[in-house]
Amino acid sequence: MAYSQTTVLAGGLVHIPIITGVFWLFRNFILSRTGNKKVQEAPTPPINTAPTEAAAEAKAVAVTKAPPRKPSAHSKVPVNTYKPKEPFLGKVLENYSLLKDGAIGRVQHITFDLSGGNPQLEYVEGQSIGIIPEGEDAKGKPHKIRLYSIASTRHGDNMRGKTVSLCVRQLQYEKDGQTIDGVCSTYLCDINKGRKVKITGPVGKEMLLPEEEDANIIMFATGTGIAPMRAYLRRMFDAKERKKNNWDYKGKAWLFMGAPKTANLLYDEDFELYKSKFPDNFQYTKAISREQQNAKGGRMYIQDRVLENAEEIFKMIEDPKTHIYLCGLKGMEPGIDEAMTAAAAAKGINWAELRPQLKKADRWHVETY
Ligand code: FAD
Ligand code: A2P
Repeated sequence: MAYSQTTVLAGGLVHIPIITGVFWLFRNFILSRTGNKKVQEAPTPPINTAPTEAAAEAKAVAVTKAPPRKPSAHSKVPVNTYKPKEPFLGKVLENYSLLKDGAIGRVQHITFDLSGGNPQLEYVEGQSIGIIPEGEDAKGKPHKIRLYSIASTRHGDNMRGKTVSLCVRQLQYEKDGQTIDGVCSTYLCDINKGRKVKITGPVGKEMLLPEEEDANIIMFATGTGIAPMRAYLRRMFDAKERKKNNWDYKGKAWLFMGAPKTANLLYDEDFELYKSKFPDNFQYTKAISREQQNAKGGRMYIQDRVLENAEEIFKMIEDPKTHIYLCGLKGMEPGIDEAMTAAAAAKGINWAELRPQLKKADRWHVETY
């Protein structure tokens, strides 16, 4: 049988993939025997520069990520139901002091009625609302909104829903020998029951709680920064809340609370009650700056408490189910960062590298002002 030139050429071409395949299999066999690094995945870069054991520990922290969230976890969170141009008018239901005799300044717990809204203003724990104070600014324009963290759970303090509570500190400072009162905080602290207040929002997804019932929650709060934490802790430990919210919290919650004096501690009795009822699930550590001293003889701040408890805090952080929340004075951020850096270094961990990893894993939550 005679072969044409085209047939010979086609027959030759058919063999090329077969020969290439055989060569590829042979190459991989040789490489697998010699352990050639080029065909292996690059190792995960270590997160610190510390050698040996510490490096291994640091790496263990680095690879722990939060369990994947349910896709719907935060998509249902309401945002901007009411905008500044058309705010909701909420009636003041309560306005009482949160401070004891001898406390410094003024901090009020204020509750607004949200009923009758169309649409209904709803929110979840960790969000904020905006308040537009009455009156005009120095230029004769309406006042701008101020944000306040919500201190109640989605069920409100009365458990019937349709209310929202805030924890507001009156801003007061001295300027040119005069005491200046903050516009909105003074408006709120002074407001009487029955008055109607312009409310916007809710806003914010930074401070939301994870949905997992076994999540661990470390909280750093100064002053009114306790507001979102009060909502979290009610959701976790208040008897009526637990009955209603169908969320059986089983993790470990640890609150670090900073206040100038014992009389300034906010919601302290509630937290003490939770501690007595749930000793395995709730730890409460106070830093009372003007009554207690840190190791250097200075004012006791929450970052000093972080240093004292570094070992346990970092053990918790190694668990991917642990989230950290910071709320309150902006000024506390560098202090907390410094303390975490020192505490991490003692464990051979580089905090400057770990913190962004925690943030990326949605485990580091900050709202300071
Ligand atoms: P303003 O009249 O607006 O005065 C504030 C201005 O006064 C400052 O901008 C500054 O220019 C000046 N000033 C302040 N202090 C001094 C000083 N020592 N010396 C000189 N000038 C000074 N507050 C709460 O009480 N509770 C909360 O839960 C809360 N949550 C918040 C959540 C978020 C997300 C944010 C962003 C803020 C939150 N705040 C909270 C702060 C709140 O929004 C207001 O900023 C605060 O109440 C002061 O508003 P004001 O209208 O009383 O003060
Ligand atoms: P101090 O004012 O004694 O210096 P409040 O809002 O009720 O005043 O509480 C805020 C708390 O935070 C106070 O105990 C205050 O202490 C404390 N504090 C002030 N500055 C810092 C800071 N840089 N880091 C941490 N805590 C701080």
